Amino acid sequence: MEKTLILLKPCTVQRRLIGEVINRIERKGLRIVGLKMMQLDDAILNEHYAHLTERPFFPWLVSSMKSAPVVAMCVEGNSAVTVVRNIVGATNGRKAAPGTIRGDYSMSGQENIIHASDSIESAEIEMKRFFREGEIFEYPDPLHDFMY
Ligand code: PPS
Repeated sequence: MEKTLILLKPCTVQRRLIGEVINRIERKGLRIVGLKMMQLDDAILNEHYAHLTERPFFPWLVSSMKSAPVVAMCVEGNSAVTVVRNIVGATNGRKAAPGTIRGDYSMSGQENIIHASDSIESAEIEMKRFFREGEIFEYPDPLHDFMY
């Protein structure tokens, strides 16, 4: 079983789309094993987006990610990192395929609804960044054999 980190961005919280996006993730068959609302600050965002500091959009990205709380989630499933990235779709909402979360809910290259870890390695690092020990849960999964 793989785990991955998801952030529902401030635009998603403000647009009252939290439930809608979580519904898509759950109905795919992924299990939520960690979930909380957080107000992000410069410290965590500078770390999270350290690879983008030289990009022209970096200040805008940080400011947008601080503009309202995010919902941080840790979800679990077979090949969860790839499965979630496929459901999320391409970065720019106008180019993302219909049926993907960004393709269905975003018209923007910036306000694009959701962040999802891009590899198993980043997922490990990002889960530790946003969740403390004891905030990610293990619980029985009676549907496991049926789902897979
Ligand atoms: S890039 O350009 O290849 O680095 O793009 P990508 O890896 O898909 O995106 C990395 C994160 O930067 C965000 N992004 C932007 N934010 C604001 N403005 C612009 N123009 C922009 N382009 C990319 C993008 O949403 C990614 O954020 P996360 O949180 O990882 O989704």
